[in-house]
Amino acid sequence: MSTSSKPAASESVAASIASNAIRLSEALDNHMRNSFQPESKKTLRKFQPAEVSELTGISMSNLRTRHQEGDFPEVETDSRGRRLYSAAEIDQIRHIMAKTGRNGEAYLPGRRSGDALQVISIVNFKGGSSKTTSAIHLAQRYALRGYRVLAIDMDPQASLTTMFGYRPEIEFAEGGTIYDAIKYEEPVPLSQVIRKTYFHNLDLAPAGLMLSEYETETAYALQHKIDPPFTQRLAIALDEVEANYDLVIIDCPPQLGFTTMTALLASTGLLITVVPSMLDVASMAQFLEMAGETVRALEEAAGPIHWNFLKFLIARYEPTDVPQSQMAGFLRSILLDQVLTTPMLKSTAISDAGMTQQTIYEIEPSQVLKKTLDRILESVNGVTDEFEKVIQKAWARETD
Ligand SMILES: Nc1ncnc2c1ncn2[C@@H]1O[C@H](COP(=O)(O)OP(=O)(O)OP(=O)(O)O)[C@@H](O)[C@H]1O
Ligand SMILES: [Mg+2]
Repeated sequence: MSTSSKPAASESVAASIASNAIRLSEALDNHMRNSFQPESKKTLRKFQPAEVSELTGISMSNLRTRHQEGDFPEVETDSRGRRLYSAAEIDQIRHIMAKTGRNGEAYLPGRRSGDALQVISIVNFKGGSSKTTSAIHLAQRYALRGYRVLAIDMDPQASLTTMFGYRPEIEFAEGGTIYDAIKYEEPVPLSQVIRKTYFHNLDLAPAGLMLSEYETETAYALQHKIDPPFTQRLAIALDEVEANYDLVIIDCPPQLGFTTMTALLASTGLLITVVPSMLDVASMAQFLEMAGETVRALEEAAGPIHWNFLKFLIARYEPTDVPQSQMAGFLRSILLDQVLTTPMLKSTAISDAGMTQQTIYEIEPSQVLKKTLDRILESVNGVTDEFEKVIQKAWARETD
């Protein structure tokens, strides 16, 4: 290369960044197109009898008998004659059991008259602490268990929205996200941004980059005393749709800004995910200190803030890693029973499925080694079931 024709350094760097950005974005677009279908085509797989039994609490033999007696709708069978159920059919069966089974009410775990909507924020300002992964697995598992779930993506990065098969930078570039329902200028009713998903019983209020505007707009609104304040905006938006849901699961961004505080103040309970490493725990301690100070200041200004529960989830846990298991033990010794007993294990099944925007509930069981899948299902089901008891307790229902 001749030195005399060398362009000015700044030009070349800028041009190279721009061309990299274009190439990267095109390649990503292709990758996403190949790895998952657009939302309209993303569908949920069917479930096997053992899974239906586990999800509903109906024994396999009872399931078979009730089919033979014609109580349950006929469902598709596979080439070996084994029944395969859609999530909607599982729900239909659950409702038939509720009407006709002994102790029928037990088959419907959601809200009963007088029970308040439970709004749960998954939070921590450490990036990559498994918030989105936990949020989507909780939301899907509860939907499969028969709860009516609304997932809210409160992160402008929109990872949760992407997991549902959307391409936020294209599909929500002009609006249609949670931002529209909480913004200060002409907010729209939350129902206008909520999307039904391919997952039965699970709706989504998506996010997009626009949501990042909420931080600066809130700062401005506070200065100019624009009402209602951020402390109430999400709760007010939720009022409109609250009768449609049992649970709301909010995926928070990795900062403690106004967006996260807005979510926390609309919540009835919090789940803090923490990877048990020294750096993550140190960062969480800082998060708790800052959140504590902020909440204290808000309480001084506007009265007490009440959460039904605050739980910690040990996430992406590798039990064979000695420093990790020591750190997990340390957390338990300090935070006691606030830490969920069951940790969410680190698993290639989660990270591999994540590459194609799927969860361990969505992947075809045949795609993963049975041992690998069973191990992570036991862990994630264990977490969600334990946390479900916390939720049930908020409705003054004791399980077990
Ligand atoms: N239990 C797990 N096993 C294996 N990989 C995991 C597990 N949990 C999360 N991951 C992977 O770790 C990465 C970060 O997880 P995730 O996006 O859930 O974190 P996050 O806290 O939401 O991040 P951010 O702060 O950026 O929002 C993802 O690639 C995800 O697939
Ligand atoms: Mg996230």
